[in-house]
Amino acid sequence: MQKNILLCISGGIAVYKAASLTSKLVQAGFHVKVIMTESACQFVTPLTFQALSRNPVYTDIFDEKDPSVIAHINLADWADLVIVAPATANSIGKLANGIADDMLTTTLLATRAPVWIAPAMNVHMYDHPAVKRNIERLYQDGYRFIEPSEGYLACGYVGKGRLEEPENITQLVEDHFTLNQNLLQGMSLLVTAGPTREKIDPVRFFSNLSSGKMGFAIAEQAAKLGAKVTLVTGPSHLIDPVNVKVIRIESASDMYDHVMEQFPLNDIVIKSAAVADYKPAITYNEKMKKQDGVLTIEFERTIDILKTLGTMKGDKVLVGFAAETGRIEEYAKKKLLSKNLDMVVANNVNEKGAGFQGDTNIVSFFMKNGVVKHLPMMDKKDVALELLNEVFAIWSEKK
Ligand code: PMT
Repeated sequence: MQKNILLCISGGIAVYKAASLTSKLVQAGFHVKVIMTESACQFVTPLTFQALSRNPVYTDIFDEKDPSVIAHINLADWADLVIVAPATANSIGKLANGIADDMLTTTLLATRAPVWIAPAMNVHMYDHPAVKRNIERLYQDGYRFIEPSEGYLACGYVGKGRLEEPENITQLVEDHFTLNQNLLQGMSLLVTAGPTREKIDPVRFFSNLSSGKMGFAIAEQAAKLGAKVTLVTGPSHLIDPVNVKVIRIESASDMYDHVMEQFPLNDIVIKSAAVADYKPAITYNEKMKKQDGVLTIEFERTIDILKTLGTMKGDKVLVGFAAETGRIEEYAKKKLLSKNLDMVVANNVNEKGAGFQGDTNIVSFFMKNGVVKHLPMMDKKDVALELLNEVFAIWSEKK
């Protein structure tokens, strides 16, 4: 069935890209209606969007085109998905504070459809604490963000603030509607997350920057898609995702024990944990006392859990991550082969918006069959959805 997309356009220079987005969504087979703010109309006329969407454009809350309905309620109910693109700092601020003073903001408050917000603004505006606060609040309220990309901005700055490319947004919309909400029903997934801590003595340890956000997002989304999920995680302040069995561990050796125990019970294993490759050769029971001169600590290798699983995987789907700082493709492909994986999710942890701790990631999927898929910067929850979609495809092919 043809899906209804309500495109809400607020006023920034990126309005010109919204024209291309309208066209691409229509070409992809969606039914598109457009709301524009007064400022958006200063950049491109409503006539452009009327021609591209083949529907009247809504700009004024009091301009009721059909007396039998109330336009903003009717549009809010009609939409299967609402996209705000470009979303200015002003429209984000209004929505975060429940302000409804024009056609766009009033409709946004009235809709029950998922709302995706694609910000576009000057890099310093995007970085402003007030804007960050508003975005955070909207995240908490359940809104989904299509993060702006980095590049040349119309204001002359180079940085983060460019509206995501219309073809990428269209692809996300297509994926959203093809994703079956019961996709992973009946399947068992084992996910690992977070860092490990390798103790030197009772008060000191060797660890890394992983927060657990990537792995928790995968576990959370997999559970929402109907899978039975077990999450083995290193130390993380994140709370247990709903409907997920969480096993909290500390060291690489604890993770090895629990993953080995859970492995036979699961169909799919996704290892996003940042497991230490080395641990101190000796862990002291007493706090080490400082001494004069240089301290040398001897490290020994931990067991490579993923590589071990690769030797015993049978018909299970095995997905590894690769945290790299360069030569991404080369190293990811090497891991794919040497660990006998079905897929590697590679991220360049030096890249802004990717890797450790943030809410977003920029990943590439390297498949066993040679296919490579690069994703734009996305919320980790959306990366998780894309990943689970691919995992399901691999699983179906094996059956
Ligand atoms: O937790 P966040 O703050 O959200 O950050 C997310 C992340 C950056 C940790 C995540 O996106 C990521 O890249 N995870 C993998 C980190 C890593 O350890 O990569 P690696 O290239 O060193 O390891 C390759 C693979 O082998 C990984 O799947 C890892 O889980 C696994 N491994 C590594 C060492 C070991 N002893 N046993 C393992 O199983």
